[in-house]
Amino acid sequence: MEFSTQTSIDLAQINTEALAVGVFKNQVLSPAAEQIDQASQGAIRSVLESEFKGDAKTSLVLRQLPGVAAKRVVIIGLGEQKKYNAKAHAAAEATFATYAKSASIKEVTSTLASIDTPDSTITERSRASAQALGYANYKYDATLSTKDDAPSQIEQAAIWSAPTEAAAIETGLAQGKAIADGVNFTRLLADLPPNICTPTFLAQEAKKMGEQFPSLKVEVLERKQIEALKMGSFLSVAKGSDEPPVFIVIKHTPTTSSDEAPLVLVGKGLTFDSGGISLKPAASMDEMKYDMGGAASVFGTMRAVAELNLDREIIGIIASCENMPSGRANKPGDVVTSMAGKTIEVLNTDAEGRLVLCDALTYAERFNPAAVINIATLTGACIVALGDINSGLFSNNDALAEQIKEASQQTNDGVWQLPITDEYQAKLKSNFADIANIGSPGAGSITAACFLARFTEQYPWAHLDVAGTAWASGSNKGATGRPVPLLVQYLINQTA
Ligand code: BES
Ligand code: MN
Ligand code: ZN
Repeated sequence: MEFSTQTSIDLAQINTEALAVGVFKNQVLSPAAEQIDQASQGAIRSVLESEFKGDAKTSLVLRQLPGVAAKRVVIIGLGEQKKYNAKAHAAAEATFATYAKSASIKEVTSTLASIDTPDSTITERSRASAQALGYANYKYDATLSTKDDAPSQIEQAAIWSAPTEAAAIETGLAQGKAIADGVNFTRLLADLPPNICTPTFLAQEAKKMGEQFPSLKVEVLERKQIEALKMGSFLSVAKGSDEPPVFIVIKHTPTTSSDEAPLVLVGKGLTFDSGGISLKPAASMDEMKYDMGGAASVFGTMRAVAELNLDREIIGIIASCENMPSGRANKPGDVVTSMAGKTIEVLNTDAEGRLVLCDALTYAERFNPAAVINIATLTGACIVALGDINSGLFSNNDALAEQIKEASQQTNDGVWQLPITDEYQAKLKSNFADIANIGSPGAGSITAACFLARFTEQYPWAHLDVAGTAWASGSNKGATGRPVPLLVQYLINQTA
């Protein structure tokens, strides 16, 4: 999708397929709606008494209004004016995008970003507009036999505002487009079935991305090289599967080289998690194809970083394999040796994410990173604690945790911090190794984070548990692309 700014003072003159204008409850018109109302001799006010109440998530289409060049004026409900904020703006733009998609409209103009909110700048609202419109273009059809030959995509979107704000809007639109492209890429990788999206497939996708973006250099380590690095913990999970593991490093080097230490993202890339010998129950096991959601978010974020050519060295690491039961699989009671040299007692083979991540986190030390953020669908317990609303946030560094919360608020991509303390660490004690791979009793998300914390003492680190947020279950089953918006925003903030 192409985005542009539209700064024509006279809205009624704008020639477009669909023009979105906002109306609050109680018949309060946004300035843009007011302009259209006046140009059309009250066409908007005339529908407010009966058909349209201005409720959030509602819209009404008016065609060929007298005195208005736009083919359609789409009135978007904004809800109560005094509650109107950045989140409500994003929802309003999404309502418009959904309408445009369903009506197969390829070219749109929106005035919604021009409506002030107390908690956002025009740049932030333009970014949110581009995100909402961009998200609407994702539809999974990779493995459907009948594809829509003319998929209804929004191809061009113009954001309307005062001429003085054009530059601020351009900035927001570029960021929003990059985030939306990243989110949609993440969603596709995550939604692909596990017989297609294997570790080898992910490695190929990484190489493709490296060819597409000049700032990205991609390195793929195969089993032999992973063995040479002594990643005994990661390999213990991988060896239960016939699919070979891969360790992917995607490095973004900006054209204007900065001398700041790099920021590193580490993604859990289990392209399928059966649980291994500690086999999972059959119900919803298909959803364990999403156990590479963390890795997929690293792909999407690195894509956005490259698209924006952020002025900072940023490195994405993905450790990818399958967790399967077999004659070579981990057994409960096995003791494995991690790259860091710590021994681990595998008490439950289904707690495999931390076994894979700990070696990737040790590998990250070689970059002398300013910060490392790992993203993982790590624990079912995180869904119990936070549901599908917030991702779990854990950190060994308060400043880093605050920066992540700030980016989370800016992008409406929620996180909630949970503690890592010595009392919880004590639950990981093993009689037969330096550490056990599960803790008991209770606090499953925290003890998982505690396990990772043992391997991240060399740098500021945060862990995002996206078990509840990376995909939706039920009839709308599908990847969400979270936490790509948060991650890209965090990285933008670190480079600004
Ligand atoms: N990938 C799962 C976590 C998960 C489960 C995410 C369900 C989303 C939905 C992870 O590898 C796992 O199986 N964790 C175990 C840990 C337990 C054995 C300590 C869990 O959460 O049950
Ligand atoms: Mn598991
Ligand atoms: Zn898993």
